[in-house]
Amino acid sequence: MKTNIIRDAQELSNYVRTAKQSGKTIGLVPTMGYLHEGHASLIRAARKQCDVVVVSDFVNPTQFGPKEDYATYPRDEQADLRLVESCGADVLFVPTVETLYPNGQDSTWVEVSKLGTILCGASRPGHFRGVTTVVTKLLWISQADYAFFGEKDYQQLTILRRMVRDLGCPCQIVGMPLVREDDGLALSSRNIHLTAEARNQALSLHRGLECARRAFQEGCRDAQTLIARARDEISSQPLAEIQYIEVADPETLEIFDAEVPARVIMLLAVRVGGVRLIDNMRLDG
Ligand code: PAJ
Repeated sequence: MKTNIIRDAQELSNYVRTAKQSGKTIGLVPTMGYLHEGHASLIRAARKQCDVVVVSDFVNPTQFGPKEDYATYPRDEQADLRLVESCGADVLFVPTVETLYPNGQDSTWVEVSKLGTILCGASRPGHFRGVTTVVTKLLWISQADYAFFGEKDYQQLTILRRMVRDLGCPCQIVGMPLVREDDGLALSSRNIHLTAEARNQALSLHRGLECARRAFQEGCRDAQTLIARARDEISSQPLAEIQYIEVADPETLEIFDAEVPARVIMLLAVRVGGVRLIDNMRLDG
């Protein structure tokens, strides 16, 4: 099946308006490109659930801090097109920065308070404001009935669910499971920047989460002990620099620092050889 590349926002709006007039549902899969099997799982889910599937491919400058990796974020439009086509998407939307930010940084912003300032928001100030702003624009332009996001970025998914509810967006957010390599590494576009040694040490993230999950399943309900299990595993790797490891409520992301309840998720961010990786796991799963 042929995927149409659309670069112009008005052209995408016209395309989806025609589809909607004939009663079709629209599924949106927002991405920053350099697509892998994690993204593919979202596109396939959208293909199953919706009549028209739009994948956006846009490295969003406003979600990167001034010292972050916007300039070196990996990009490969041709490979993305092949993957998107193989998953049966109808449209690959590839806007320019000027298309989505006609006034540059002098933009209208969408911000979810509090939830955007904890966990990744604490070490990446402004990051989630960039995410919620660009996703709002993409939802408007695509008029999506359903938008698909991965649990890999668990805080992002939680924030976007909240945003859609708070703003009354006529779009349903669909969350999909985190996809890992066979050896446990969470798929990420940034993995390409890992050296062989760093990649090997990055496997400690999954091992650390598994250690915490085992402790939880053996009856441990103390947040600090659960965190220590993961921390011990990860901090034994010389290239690993932990940014945070927390346990939280899977719906609200309320962070627990003493006793944890029956439903709990562990979330972490670690720089490994200078590459920032995130991962998470339900401890009760
Ligand atoms: P990006 O990192 O490209 O991810 C796009 C989508 O793919 C997100 O919903 C993310 O959670 C999902 N994804 C990435 N790796 C995954 C994995 N291993 N398993 C399952 N899903 C995975 O997230 C963004 O882009 C941006 O912040 C965006 C939402 C596009 C806004 O700019």
